[in-house]
Amino acid sequence: MGHTVALNFEDGVTRFIDCMGNETVADASYRVGINIPLDCRDGACGTCKTFVESGAYDGGDYIEDALTDEEAAQGYGLACQMRPKSDLVLRVAACADACKTRPATHAAEIASLTRLSDSTTVFSVRVGAGPLAFLPGQYVNIQVPGSEQQRSYSFSSPPGASEAEFLVRNIPGGLMTSFLEGVQPGASLSFTGPVGSFYLRDVRRPVLMLAGGTGLAPFLSMLERLAAIGTAYPVHLVYGVTHDADLVQVDRLEAVAARLPSFTFETCVADAASAHPRKGYVTQHLDASHLNAGDVDVYLCGPPAMVEAVRGYFGEQGIAPTSFHFEKFSPSGVVTGSV
Ligand SMILES: Cc1cc2nc3c(=O)[nH]c(=O)nc-3n(C[C@H](O)[C@H](O)[C@H](O)COP(=O)(O)OP(=O)(O)OC[C@H]3O[C@@H](n4cnc5c(N)ncnc54)[C@H](O)[C@@H]3O)c2cc1C
Ligand code: FES
Repeated sequence: MGHTVALNFEDGVTRFIDCMGNETVADASYRVGINIPLDCRDGACGTCKTFVESGAYDGGDYIEDALTDEEAAQGYGLACQMRPKSDLVLRVAACADACKTRPATHAAEIASLTRLSDSTTVFSVRVGAGPLAFLPGQYVNIQVPGSEQQRSYSFSSPPGASEAEFLVRNIPGGLMTSFLEGVQPGASLSFTGPVGSFYLRDVRRPVLMLAGGTGLAPFLSMLERLAAIGTAYPVHLVYGVTHDADLVQVDRLEAVAARLPSFTFETCVADAASAHPRKGYVTQHLDASHLNAGDVDVYLCGPPAMVEAVRGYFGEQGIAPTSFHFEKFSPSGVVTGSV
């Protein structure tokens, strides 16, 4: 039986390949023209060393010079020897360009578009070739029709959904915002991706998710994926917005909570004039139990100022989570990181 392998390159580009039968990851990559770093092909040099983010595999034969026991225990493997036993997510130590690949380009058609509030629109697209492969949390670069420009949007739908969905903040006069205001279902657009290293890792400890505004989008994708596969670890989301009108898709969060008993969430609104029961910023609604004495994977996404404020708060409080992944919805480009 074959397995799907996600190759996540250093520049955030992700390509999905099928690894057939007894094929190694390296053979499957080269078969489709993706030249991941390779030299001896024999488990002797270590050039093809890659980090396995998730999945099971047979590590094959190699010598200690190529991969130490300690590296293997940390989750590294050799692509020239590795045979998947399940779907895999691999972190390739090279940029996509250097491996003679690039993000895929997709032609799509707008399937639906709904203005959820004055500040937020949700729209979905259908892609000719069927459900798109991506990792929950990733984004695409949409070519804004009628312009030469692109805008980045995170999937708010889970991988495998028949339509890919995006949750967009309306910026008055904004290029993409203006396009969405005038467009009807059936219109064409194109995008490249998936891209991004802000994606859900295997859940191995409690997870804390912190969303600001439409920074909720990647979490919807992650949570609906988690609801489908299940996890016993606690997953908590704090979703903060500026104004009442920005608080959207709460029914979807409730639906996830009904399917995934270990999931809890709370919302908060910063606007002092709001009648919401929880006022203030997400950091004001963090409970020590959600931080699990630091043994927690933290994911943070939202506007740049919110992301910086939360990172600053963690630093001031001396909170050092086991892993920390963030993505800023920066107007001018991507700023993603992991600590
Ligand atoms: C990796 C990544 C993922 C992203 N995912 C999403 C997503 O899922 N949902 C989403 O809504 N956005 C997302 N963004 C932001 C998105 O790409 C656009 O920047 C945003 O939607 C504005 O597009 P626009 O064309 O409507 O406005 P623009 O034409 O880009 O902007 C018009 C004017 O408004 C200013 N402006 C732009 N954004 C803001 C803002 N947030 N606050 C105040 N002023 C602003 C600009 O500087 C400019 O002066 C993401 C950004 C990145 C980098
Ligand atoms: S290419 Fe040399 S160990 Fe894999």
